[in-house]
Amino acid sequence: MIREILKMGDPRLLAIARPVEDIGDPALKDIIADLYETMRAANGVGLAAPQVGIGLRLMIFGFESNPRYPDEKPVPMTTIINPWMELLTEETEDGWEGCLSVPGMRGLVPRATHIRYGGTLEDGAALEREARGFHARVFQHEFDHLNGVLYPHRIRDLTRFGFIEALFPDSELAALERPIATSHVEATGPRP
Ligand code: NI
Repeated sequence: MIREILKMGDPRLLAIARPVEDIGDPALKDIIADLYETMRAANGVGLAAPQVGIGLRLMIFGFESNPRYPDEKPVPMTTIINPWMELLTEETEDGWEGCLSVPGMRGLVPRATHIRYGGTLEDGAALEREARGFHARVFQHEFDHLNGVLYPHRIRDLTRFGFIEALFPDSELAALERPIATSHVEATGPRP
């Protein structure tokens, strides 16, 4: 089921999510399936449970290719429950980010360039991985959602934050972020 994505300003996006306690709970499988369906409908490269109003430490991300980030290399499709992260460098790099909770906008955000992360996979197995570049950026962005942090909170130079069509007037990116997901939500009937 496609769920409504909360928008910046909703206090639920600022809350600290709580750990998932029962990985075998069948309700968790449904939530994960909904996260994937919702992320795909919105052309997202990641989605965290709090973005659909579920205050759990659960996130998904990954893509083969994505029209919203056409220049980025693929990131493995990953579901992580109760994730953790460790910085492997103090070096940061600025990169443009968007967020399904901040539709139509982009901002230049500093992120660590090399991290180790992990957590529990859907089948209960432990995951541990190193990531660099855009992969590391995507993880950090989604991980932030579990702690009530949105990318605009991390922008150091607010002159590098704005609407896609104004920042990148020659790009077709803006058209991709008209709110397609919303019409899907309305079409699927009552929300949970
Ligand atoms: Ni986001």
